Amino acid sequence: SFSTMAATVVLALYFDVSKCYFSIPLKIYTGKFNVSAEGASAPVRRVALMSDGNGLSLASDPTGTVNFLDMVQNLEGDSGRGYYIEMSIGTPGQKLNILVDTGSSNFAVAAAQHPFITHYFNTALSSTYQLAGRTVAVRYTQGNWEGELGIDRVLIPNGPNGTIVVNIAAIMSSDGFFLPGVNWQGILGLAYPTLARPDSSVEPFFNSVVQQLRIPNIFSLQMCGAGLSASSTADPAGGSLIMGGIEPTLYQGSVWYTPIVEEWYYQVEVLKLEVGDQNLDLDCREYNMDKAIVDSGTTLLRLPVNVFNAVVEAITRSSLIQEFSSGFWDGTKLACWMKGESPWRFFPKLSIYLRATNSSQSFRITILPQLYIQPITDVDGTLDCFRFGLSSSSNGLVIGATVMEGFYVIFDRAQKRLGFALSNCAVSGGVALSEIAGPFSAADVAANCSGGILKEPIMWVISYTLMAICALVLIILLLLLVLPCRRRNYSGEITDESSLVRHRIK
Ligand SMILES: *[C@@H]1O[C@H](CO)[C@@H](O)[C@H](O)[C@H]1NC(C)=O
Ligand SMILES: *[C@@H]1O[C@H](CO)[C@@H](O)[C@H](O)[C@H]1NC(C)=O
Ligand SMILES: *[C@@H]1O[C@H](CO)[C@@H](O)[C@H](O)[C@H]1NC(C)=O
Ligand SMILES: *[C@@H]1O[C@H](CO)[C@@H](O)[C@H](O)[C@H]1NC(C)=O
Repeated sequence: SFSTMAATVVLALYFDVSKCYFSIPLKIYTGKFNVSAEGASAPVRRVALMSDGNGLSLASDPTGTVNFLDMVQNLEGDSGRGYYIEMSIGTPGQKLNILVDTGSSNFAVAAAQHPFITHYFNTALSSTYQLAGRTVAVRYTQGNWEGELGIDRVLIPNGPNGTIVVNIAAIMSSDGFFLPGVNWQGILGLAYPTLARPDSSVEPFFNSVVQQLRIPNIFSLQMCGAGLSASSTADPAGGSLIMGGIEPTLYQGSVWYTPIVEEWYYQVEVLKLEVGDQNLDLDCREYNMDKAIVDSGTTLLRLPVNVFNAVVEAITRSSLIQEFSSGFWDGTKLACWMKGESPWRFFPKLSIYLRATNSSQSFRITILPQLYIQPITDVDGTLDCFRFGLSSSSNGLVIGATVMEGFYVIFDRAQKRLGFALSNCAVSGGVALSEIAGPFSAADVAANCSGGILKEPIMWVISYTLMAICALVLIILLLLLVLPCRRRNYSGEITDESSLVRHRIK
């Protein structure tokens, strides 16, 4: 509605002007889950790699810095609660679980007690901890924290061989960041320095690792929660964060690469979306409005509002199910079937076309309904209930865990590209839950789909009219709002209502 839209714009303007916030799309769900543990227990080969400065070279010397055997299955967690890795921080080492987030750039750990975490990093007990004398605050799509910057030594038991000295944000207070049932106490932001808070001079963790341990500037991520329902009691599904290279046993087939459009988030260029065999046929700039990113810290596949509506309409048309309440699509309700009656056959596949490194070509990554119609168990004894793994977004398209769980994703920073390959743990009952195909011609889409806002004249008229109205409202609002930034709890973001605690069976 117009008034909602106006209010949203006003809020957006307000925060743009005040520069109080920086919103990062961390979005983790929590709740009561039940995972049937399914290990990705492929046989593991021992591979040692060394950096040749820019890319990768297989090293015959088995005492190389990077030993991938130690890194396979070094993650625990699931899409619902995030994937985390164990680290040993300070001297003597204090063990904490750290959420792996490719959508932010700070390394931050709890440094004070909080009701939802079991333990925290006690800076006073580390002889090597040094205060940097600056405070830092980070705001995510969901939740925020504040703390002090420091420096300390970190060892990753199932990571590259060696201790590194890194920037640490010691979280002293937070709101909506730690959630009930999560088993992590910190966050590892793996994106670029541009996103680091308070400014880009705070070297991100992975930059420090590459520099100090001289490993190749590349990491790869396999998240193994595909098709599993989640539980707070069973063993989490797990996955692998391979620092320094690519582990061949984690994927099948070939790796398809897409360029990183800009190095801040891992921004990519989406050319096309298909529901089943049907092309949504929107202007490709709509898919990248205002950006398209790959983010392991976001649970769902988030789509710009127009795109989301088109996808829901296409799914409704092809699913032959007329009876869905809108609550299912907006994430406020679960859809339930009698036990054993799997609903997946009612739903189409979803395909995302990404620009290939040869810019006149594309390739597509496809997820089966098992990845986006997600089982939630333990809701009711006689029903199997599912949530919709997509949500709408006002700040761009986010390829979150829903999609990433289908693929082994290679963050090749050295060559400014992201690789996708079929993950060997995205399999259920012998059936692959994801597909990858290419090359396709990109001749039918614009040369640049990341070209920012749509410059249609009518859009400009509308925006200027809106802005005029909003400016007026803004002035009134500014008079009403007393300004301490940290008490405000809006970001202009459409709040995602699909938190599990709010789920209700229809
Ligand atoms: C999790 O689900 C499995 C079957 O799917 C069941 O056997 C097990 O008891 C459940 N665990 C809990 C803690 O509910
Ligand atoms: C780790 O590095 C140390 C020192 O360079 C070396 O002695 C040790 O063998 C390495 N360990 C592994 C598992 O590569
Ligand atoms: C890129 O793709 C186009 C169209 O398929 C093809 O003609 C061209 O040879 C490719 N360029 C390279 C360098 O592979
Ligand atoms: C596409 O447009 C965006 C925004 O104007 C720009 O940052 C980017 O470099 C362009 N990409 C190419 C390949 O020209």
